[in-house]
Amino acid sequence: MIPVFEPDVSNEDIQAVIAALRAGEISGTFGRHLADFEREFAAWVGRRFAVATTSGTTALHLAMAALELPPGSEVLVSASTNIASALALAHNRLVTVPVDSERRTWNLDLDLLPSLVAERTRAIMPVHLFGNPVDMERLMDFARERGLLVVEDCAESHGATVRGRLSGAFGDLACFSFYANKVITTGEGGMVVTDDPALDRKLRLLRNLGFTEPRFRHEVLGFNFRMPGLQAALGLSQLRRIDSIVESKRRLADWYTRRLRSVAGLQLPHEPEGFRHVHWMYALVVEPSFGISRDELAKRLKADGIETRTFFCPMNRQPCLGGEELMRFAPCPVAEELWERGIYLPSSTRLREADVETICERIRHAPKGAGVTACASR
Ligand SMILES: Cc1ncc(COP(=O)(O)O)c(C=O)c1O
Repeated sequence: MIPVFEPDVSNEDIQAVIAALRAGEISGTFGRHLADFEREFAAWVGRRFAVATTSGTTALHLAMAALELPPGSEVLVSASTNIASALALAHNRLVTVPVDSERRTWNLDLDLLPSLVAERTRAIMPVHLFGNPVDMERLMDFARERGLLVVEDCAESHGATVRGRLSGAFGDLACFSFYANKVITTGEGGMVVTDDPALDRKLRLLRNLGFTEPRFRHEVLGFNFRMPGLQAALGLSQLRRIDSIVESKRRLADWYTRRLRSVAGLQLPHEPEGFRHVHWMYALVVEPSFGISRDELAKRLKADGIETRTFFCPMNRQPCLGGEELMRFAPCPVAEELWERGIYLPSSTRLREADVETICERIRHAPKGAGVTACASR
């Protein structure tokens, strides 16, 4: 089976975790590795502060809590995203307003923002889908004009750039995930970055149960979203080779694109001029002219030992967001089409060009449905 993803953990990563374990950096918010990871990550993104959390989901949750928006405030969020983006809003009593996708990049359609802003709109949460960065310069100009806050969801976009500037360097806050399949990993883990010292203080306070002085007397309702030092050690070790990981991802994407660009009926990832897509996952859209549906393609690839995943179910179609207090409904026909037709392919940095050749060969043959033999098990 060629899995959709395999984590890239090196010997140095393992040694780093052992060193943190030996130093007793097992839990809490102390220790060299956690401080170093936060400092180096902030410097890498080009922000003043970084606060590590237990996951990308809790990074988003913490970021929204730190903004202290009045309950019932609306947040415009990419319709095509992981449910974690909307959960961070729902658990902070904020209302999701889904923004439909743009056809070429599959990111939120910036042209739709003016018509979606309403009286209670307070913030925008753009998601850099599959590692393709949103045009953050344009989005920030719009947000500043309207007095809206911006929280970037960079869970999939470590290393992506907009005219040379990294995703995560634009919003009032930006959140990253270090889940096992992300560009870099800490197992489970996340990070919030900002330039605002007051927000940094608030994030740290809320992350650690709202502990202040005197100890055990709490002024605010906090959370335990602390990343342990041994996971920070893994993150730090991974961060130090992020450039080569991103390069591998882009090389993998290039192998796919060169083999699939001539196949009729497949829409491949689009990297706008001046943007750097990191291809967290190599995604494509199966058009009706391909000859078989996305589901049929996935089925045939699975039979050949190739694992795939669909695009996200858009937020306007999420049963868990039913109810006016959770979502202001907005139609999202493009995101719905992507949910029906989008698929992503094995994207592990461990894949060799020969694996990509095999996968693309199967894709090219899939509409004919014959003449393919199963891949060797890996
Ligand atoms: C866009 C997006 N946001 C948030 C998350 C949540 O991150 P985590 O799995 O680390 O909680 C994910 C992925 O898992 C994601 O893809």
